[in-house]
Amino acid sequence: MHKPKVVLGVSGGIAAYKACELLRRLTESGHDVRVVPTESALHFVGAATWSALSGHPVSTEVWADVHEVPHVRIGQGADLVIVAPATADILAKAAHGLADDLLTNTLLTARCPVVFAPAMHTEMWEHPATQENVATLRRRGALVVDPAVGRLTGVDTGKGRFPEPAELFEVVRRVLGRGGDAVDAAQDLAGRHVVVSAGGTREPLDPVRFLGNRSSGKQGYALARSAAARGARVTLVAANAALPDPAGVDVVPVGTAVQLREAVLKAAADADAVVMAAAVADFRPETYATGKIKKKDGEDPAPIALVRNPDILAEIAGDRPRVGQVVVGFAAETDDVLANGRAKLARKGCDLLVVNEVGERKTFGSEQNEAIVLGADGSETPVPYGPKEDLADTIWDLVVQRLA
Ligand code: CTP
Repeated sequence: MHKPKVVLGVSGGIAAYKACELLRRLTESGHDVRVVPTESALHFVGAATWSALSGHPVSTEVWADVHEVPHVRIGQGADLVIVAPATADILAKAAHGLADDLLTNTLLTARCPVVFAPAMHTEMWEHPATQENVATLRRRGALVVDPAVGRLTGVDTGKGRFPEPAELFEVVRRVLGRGGDAVDAAQDLAGRHVVVSAGGTREPLDPVRFLGNRSSGKQGYALARSAAARGARVTLVAANAALPDPAGVDVVPVGTAVQLREAVLKAAADADAVVMAAAVADFRPETYATGKIKKKDGEDPAPIALVRNPDILAEIAGDRPRVGQVVVGFAAETDDVLANGRAKLARKGCDLLVVNEVGERKTFGSEQNEAIVLGADGSETPVPYGPKEDLADTIWDLVVQRLA
């Protein structure tokens, strides 16, 4: 079987040590990885480490093994190039087409998808020079994964952190999975902003108890990961999901339906698409006890009065924050799946409704899902039982068609 050929470019940032784990994940999952570090990267992690972990020789410049013409061959033969970490310097060189070492030569000869995972201090990331270079690279079809917000080298925190290697690995997997040749098609959400809600809301009764549901958030996270790999700017409004932040995704944590509504409406103002994958509580307790509710001997428990939560999906679908915005809802049904789905699609006024049949063993917490996607135009797209990322990609395919 063809082993996908990945070039892992490593430039000179402290996060180079985290790229070792990315390399490990790639080789262990059957990728043939050629590491091309820059000279400065070797200050952080030595050539011996890259060579031992990849099983290939490692060179930083074009003068080694000249008879094999490595400055051309490595890039030409790659199915995907990822530069991780990408410093401000390598982004600048790539944007301007400089070619003074093996990595920059490789970037010019590669015709496969190219991914950059920048990591640097916040000031360097935010500098107009860097931002313009990133915009140039994106315009040319590269996928530049926004750095995460968090702890940087030393004590400072801010935007510029290298994403979790496991999440970058997911980006690579998805970009490769969508086909190496169709580089432009692979980035069909480039320049788009999409909002995804995920997880399940919790409606507090008192400081220790809540009304909740069993949504794990996995489907929403799969949607966010797929959209990011297809080039979108992604806002993920996450309700109580205990999952790692997807690389390049702006995660907004929320607790209740009211908080979720506020976060989704704010992000939706300039969004091209909104996908409501979160399980939002239809009701919340009418009152919140500031102290813990105590049981009293010999007394029956007091009933819990509920009030309706706002229907966020219906609100956005009915009054689109942006013209041409595509709105997608989810429905969990136990019986009469299609008829109930059609009725719900009409009631909510959304463009697409992803209908899941739920039961004892299905959907919640599982890695797999099965669904039918109903379109307001009468279309029906069945998605067979399979990984949640396959369903995610089908949903984005349908969204892209409607955005066009
Ligand atoms: N939703 C929402 N706001 C709510 C409730 C649900 O935005 N207050 C969204 C969900 O994110 C999902 C869809 O609406 O996209 C689900 O619709 P809902 O009416 O809640 O369906 P069910 O939970 O299946 O409820 P029922 O069948 O009882 O109507």
